[in-house]
Amino acid sequence: MVQEHEPVLLAEAVGGLAVRSGGVYVDGNVGLGGHAAAVLAASAPDGRLIGFDWDAAAIERAAERLASFGDRAELVRDNFTALGSYLEERGLAAVDGILLDLGISSFQLDASGRGFSFLRDEPLDMRMDQRRPATAADLVNTLSARELADILYYYGEERQARRIAARIVAHRQQARITTTAALAEIVAQAVPRRFHPRRIHVATRTFQALRIAVNGELDNLRALLRDAWRYLKPGGRICVISFHSLEDRLVKAAFAGAPALKALTKRPITPTAAEKRRNPRSRSARLRIAVRREVGHGA
Ligand SMILES: C[S@@+](CC[C@H](N)C(=O)[O-])C[C@H]1O[C@@H](n2cnc3c(N)ncnc32)[C@H](O)[C@@H]1O
Repeated sequence: MVQEHEPVLLAEAVGGLAVRSGGVYVDGNVGLGGHAAAVLAASAPDGRLIGFDWDAAAIERAAERLASFGDRAELVRDNFTALGSYLEERGLAAVDGILLDLGISSFQLDASGRGFSFLRDEPLDMRMDQRRPATAADLVNTLSARELADILYYYGEERQARRIAARIVAHRQQARITTTAALAEIVAQAVPRRFHPRRIHVATRTFQALRIAVNGELDNLRALLRDAWRYLKPGGRICVISFHSLEDRLVKAAFAGAPALKALTKRPITPTAAEKRRNPRSRSARLRIAVRREVGHGA
């Protein structure tokens, strides 16, 4: 059975947004609607939530989950980078809070059949939004060894990047790489036994790196963070839950670098030991919160 996606740092994120009745909130990663439901409950009776997700399956499930909130919940199947144009179209100048819960959901990982995990043998796709042009198979079968090594090194912080890239290129000259199992096997063979990590699977970083590249995850985050302050009312909050240091670094720098924002978390908030035990996916989660300053700061 597929495990339901348990929302990570739920109380901390809803508290961080300072949710109140009548507020308008944006959830950039609505997923299965766990955080969104909590925001809608906390903003009753008349708060509103605009939830973005670019995965059609996620939007369908979120719609079911949030149906009881009626028209207080509005779902948009799009990249969260479309937020600015969406608000403009709606004539909404700014909102009271923005929440991002980055990465993929356990549904996508375990049950989407789209090749996010090396634990299952599936087509090597990795697109969260199936309208995106290139799959992970397209990348591993067409990029140069240099380009692949750069992706693995920068997005996976994989120190064996060159070895893995060289093995991928050698392998595809015999046969196209089309499945997660084939890729995981190539990585395992490329990395000498003595360099296999002890705590994680040897292919973990490669899979993370390809997923980030296929979905343009860091570019999307950078784009949203650059403009987020514009979409917030004075006193409005932004909460970002990230799952690896590449994302957390971007969030920290964006909060420190935007004159209109004031970071409320010097260090990121992390899950309690109890949450980590209950929900292993939360282990690497980090939440940072910032508030839009009152007028007169870069507006
Ligand atoms: C970790 S899950 C969110 C889970 C959600 N908070 C919940 O409680 O169910 C991340 C979701 O964000 C979506 N996503 C990731 N990047 C996105 C982007 N740039 N634009 C829109 N949705 C995105 C994924 O498709 C996935 O459903």
